[in-house]
Amino acid sequence: MPDENQNKGPLRRFIDLPTDSVPKTIFVAVALCLVASMVVSAAAVALRPLQEVNKLVDKQINILEVAGLYEEGTDVVEAFSVFEPHIVELATGEFTDEFDVETFDGLAAASDPELSIELDDDPASIGRQSKYKTIYILRDDAGEIDKVVLPIHGYGLWSTLYGFIALEENGNDIFGLQFYEHGETPGLGAEIDNPRWKALWPGKKLTDEDGSLQITVAKTAPPAGDEHHIDALAGATLTSVGVNNLVRFWMGEAGFAPFLEKLQSGEIS
Ligand SMILES: Cc1cc2nc3c(=O)[nH]c(=O)nc-3n(C[C@H](O)[C@H](O)[C@H](O)COP(=O)(O)O)c2cc1C
Repeated sequence: MPDENQNKGPLRRFIDLPTDSVPKTIFVAVALCLVASMVVSAAAVALRPLQEVNKLVDKQINILEVAGLYEEGTDVVEAFSVFEPHIVELATGEFTDEFDVETFDGLAAASDPELSIELDDDPASIGRQSKYKTIYILRDDAGEIDKVVLPIHGYGLWSTLYGFIALEENGNDIFGLQFYEHGETPGLGAEIDNPRWKALWPGKKLTDEDGSLQITVAKTAPPAGDEHHIDALAGATLTSVGVNNLVRFWMGEAGFAPFLEKLQSGEIS
C-alpha cells in the first residue's frame, strides 16, 4: 500500500500532525512567545512618551509638595508655572544660560564627561556629579524670593534616593525635604516618606551662626544642638546615614553652598 505522506508537502504533513504532537506543541509555544513579545515591545514603545510625561508630572508634584503648594486636585501645570527655574553652575553658585532650562537634565548631565566631574570625595556615593543643576525659585507677591527648591540625590542602603529640599529665602532654614524615587525597604528605609518623619525637617537650619554646616541626621544631636538635628529612623539607621550624607554633600561646598552664599549675600535676588 502506497504511503500517503510521500505525496504531501512538508507544510501539509505538519498540518496533518495530531494537535498534541511534539512539533505542533513547540510551534504553538514559539509562535505565542513571538506574538506576546511583539505586543509587549510595541506597547513599551507606544507608551514611552506617556511614561516620560507622567515622570515629569510626578517630579513637578514633588517640587510643589516640598514647597507646600500641592494638595489633591491641584492643577499641576498651572501650579508649577509659579516656579522660576534656573540652571546653577555649582562651582561658582551663579546662574548660567548656557543650556535650555526647559530641557536640561542635571541627572543625565552627570554621565556626560564634558558636563560632570568624577568625585574623589563622594559621601553621597553618586560617582559622578553634574557641574550644573536646575533649581526652582518661588517668589512672593512683591516679587521677592520666598523659597528655593534644590534637587538632591545619593545612596541609601539599597538604592539611590532622589528628592528635593526646600529652603526659606535666607537659604538656611529648611522648609521641607522629600524624596520622589528610591528603593528602600517598605516599613524600614522607606519610612523616609512617612509624613511624621518628614515633619521633623521644617524649621531646622543648615548651618550655625558661623556658617559652618551642621545639619545632621543621627540618633543623637550634634554639638551645635537641636536646631540642626533630625532623629534617625528607628530600625533604618543605614538609610538615615545615607540621607545624612547626601543632604550634607549637596548643602556643602561641593554642592549648593556657593549658590546659598550668593543668596544670603543678596547677590541673587
Ligand atoms: C530584609 C531587610 C531589609 C532592610 N532594609 C533596610 C532599609 O531599607 N534601610 C535601613 O536602614 N535598614 C534596613 N534594614 C536593617 C539594616 O540591616 C540595619 O539593621 C538597620 O539599618 C540598623 O538600624 P537600627 O540601628 O536603627 O536598628 C533591613 C534589614 C533587613 C533584614
